[in-house]
Amino acid sequence: MTDDPIASTTFDGRQRPRRLRRTDAIRALVRETDVRPHKLVYPLFVCDGTHVRREVASMPGVFQLSVDEAVREAANARTDGVQAVLLFGLPARKDDRGSAADDAAAPVQAAVRALKQADDDLVVITDVCLCEYTSHGHCGIVADGDVLNNDTVARLVDVARSHADAGADIVAPSDMMDGRVGAIRDALDAAGHDRVAIMSYAAKYCSAFYGPFRDAAASAPVFGDRRTHQMDPANADEALREVALDLEEGADIVMVKPALPYLDVIHRIKQEFGCPTAAYQVSGEYAMLKAAAANGWLDLSQAMLESLTSIRRAGADIIITYFARDAARRLT
Ligand code: PBG
Repeated sequence: MTDDPIASTTFDGRQRPRRLRRTDAIRALVRETDVRPHKLVYPLFVCDGTHVRREVASMPGVFQLSVDEAVREAANARTDGVQAVLLFGLPARKDDRGSAADDAAAPVQAAVRALKQADDDLVVITDVCLCEYTSHGHCGIVADGDVLNNDTVARLVDVARSHADAGADIVAPSDMMDGRVGAIRDALDAAGHDRVAIMSYAAKYCSAFYGPFRDAAASAPVFGDRRTHQMDPANADEALREVALDLEEGADIVMVKPALPYLDVIHRIKQEFGCPTAAYQVSGEYAMLKAAAANGWLDLSQAMLESLTSIRRAGADIIITYFARDAARRLT
């Protein structure tokens, strides 16, 4: 033994972490985190029409799809090993109440029915919000420039019920109104949909990383922003309070969004509540990697898997990602 702590712990040959990094097989044995295809959720943007497959300019590889194409895309995703999709709708018309959001004939409801009919084992999740459906692009009913909480919750309840009526397995309210999880739970139960689960966007931050999504879903607010309901990026304790409220109100799964800039939040939620926790790797996170890779500045496949691994390592059980199919293909 020597008195020098560095010499004794690092250089005497007894502790050599590199021994376990020597070969692929050894690294696999000691690997702590796995990303598996069945942990991924694949978002789909559904529009009217048939044979529509329109690429989103700011999200190369992501398409607005008519229902028939969405069914095809989901079947291909299943072949790749992905078992769950998250649906967003592009309605034919928008108005100030987002009337198309709970229209049984609208693209999301039609897609839910078609997807479940084609493949009952596919997990179909629907995004419940009004921003894709309102003429002003806000997530709810607006008066005097503000999004009204309770009037909006009443609309969201109708939307969630109509998704459940169409056959959705899980509804995912993404609006960040107060009290909406409890109201949706009550309404679903009253309508006989007690088996439909709620995945709440519990800690949804007011983030610049949603930019490309608003392109994809044509949902950018015409005036103002979403700071009065989405969370301040500076806050993490508040995320725990949001999650506690949503769980109390009956959320089955809670989500953090975006993912990579909020790994600490994912970690704290998983540690504190130990509940099923999802993370949404959002449009901007996807577009960043795509753009850098297109410039030859990083290896897309490696960067994609590294970011997904990091999100899992932080504590997410479920990852919603536009890379779902690409990642699944790399992982099988
Ligand atoms: C709807 C909603 C948004 C996203 C998911 N649901 C947009 C927003 O809040 O502005 C963003 C997803 C993404 O960026 O990939 N409220």
